[in-house]
Amino acid sequence: MASHTRILLSLLFLSLSPLLTSCNKDPVHLHFYVHMLPNKTEVLVAKSDIPVPGSFYNFGSVIVLDNLITEGPENTSYPLGKTQGVMSVMNSLTVTWAANIVFTAGQYNGSSLAILGTDDITQPIRELAIAGGSGYFRMAQGYITIKTYSVDFNTGDAEIEVDLYAYPAKY
Ligand SMILES: *[C@@H]1O[C@H](CO)[C@@H](O)[C@H](O)[C@H]1NC(C)=O
Ligand SMILES: *[C@@H]1O[C@H](CO)[C@@H](O)[C@H](O)[C@H]1NC(C)=O
Ligand SMILES: *[C@@H]1O[C@H](CO)[C@@H](O)[C@H](O)[C@H]1NC(C)=O
Repeated sequence: MASHTRILLSLLFLSLSPLLTSCNKDPVHLHFYVHMLPNKTEVLVAKSDIPVPGSFYNFGSVIVLDNLITEGPENTSYPLGKTQGVMSVMNSLTVTWAANIVFTAGQYNGSSLAILGTDDITQPIRELAIAGGSGYFRMAQGYITIKTYSVDFNTGDAEIEVDLYAYPAKY
């Protein structure tokens, strides 16, 4: 009797275990590049008359971004998606980000991550929060670190290198 119950329970457990583990998503580490091209893939929509010493933009500038993400540093490298949102310029060499990383190719095509954070561009490595996500990244937590990869001081074109560490919800 007892052993029958044990067999039944283990059969029940075996049949449930795929359901129990089906939401057990793995943490994700991705490395990619974002191409920031003023007047092409990002546009200044508001500004003030208060300059920020050393900055291309005045305090209060709001820049709308729709920047290409590629796997490698070349702009011809495999396109993974876009960074879409806004960047606002503080009264220092710091910008505040409110943007989504939207994947349109690769393993996470159709999923997105919400990025919020402060970016002190004088620092070699900056860290921003992952505030959530959609698709594979629904209710994700995590962070990204960003480094300036290149800047063209004539055109304002810049490229940033991103390491992303996302922890999707376990349930
Ligand atoms: C972008 O366009 C505006 C308006 O034409 C211009 O004033 C500004 O200098 C341009 N910025 C860059 C980085 O080319
Ligand atoms: C890609 O980069 C090259 C130079 O590195 C530039 O000439 C070209 O216009 C860029 N293409 C795009 C789509 O930005
Ligand atoms: C990404 O997903 C969309 C929608 O399912 C699909 O139309 C598109 O072909 C996919 N892109 C790539 C590069 O696989």
